[in-house]
Amino acid sequence: MPIPTLTVIDHPLVRHKLTLLRRKETPTLRFQEVMRELSQLMGYEVTRDLALETRPVETPLTTFDAPILTGKKLCLVSIMRAGQGMLDGMRTLLPSARIGHIGLYRDQETLTPVEYFFKVPEDIEERLVILVDPMLATGHTAEAAVHRLKDAGAVSIKLAVLVAAPEGLRNFYDSHPDVPVYAASVDRQLNGQGYILPGLGDAGDRLYGTR
Ligand code: URA
Repeated sequence: MPIPTLTVIDHPLVRHKLTLLRRKETPTLRFQEVMRELSQLMGYEVTRDLALETRPVETPLTTFDAPILTGKKLCLVSIMRAGQGMLDGMRTLLPSARIGHIGLYRDQETLTPVEYFFKVPEDIEERLVILVDPMLATGHTAEAAVHRLKDAGAVSIKLAVLVAAPEGLRNFYDSHPDVPVYAASVDRQLNGQGYILPGLGDAGDRLYGTR
């Protein structure tokens, strides 16, 4: 059984930008912009172990063996709709990655995920999948998304979230101990409605100004 791994990205810029997102006064456009920046910074850590090989490169002065990325190609998968906010930033950093979308919403009564859309590249089994969703609350949505990705053939998956609840991490790891999780923060707890405390509110509503 693989040992679950959690990487909390505690770089000062990440911590600062997360604070901007948490502030309830942060307006919609600024919220989108900061989430994009934050996701870019996180993308840097999530891809830290990508394989490199060397190839001869001619600089204006000489030739030398320079490192370039090799190994698995990437696929970024967003859990709609809040995942779109993270996808934008990661995509800027990884422009050649393919993109997938999973539509899952939380039933407000049962807090369980309901699927309404699923589209990923056909060669998903050959790619490293980076699944993005800003909030890991109960963990059930990410858990269901990873089940769907594995059913579609994905064998190498990482999960990047901005804020995780301890309960969500436990639930997620019970089902997917093989999937490393990256978070900017592990917050205190969930409230009775399944929101993360202190959290940042409803990430989708804050991204799109729907409440
Ligand atoms: N989803 C959100 O957007 N925020 C939470 O706090 C929990 C789930």
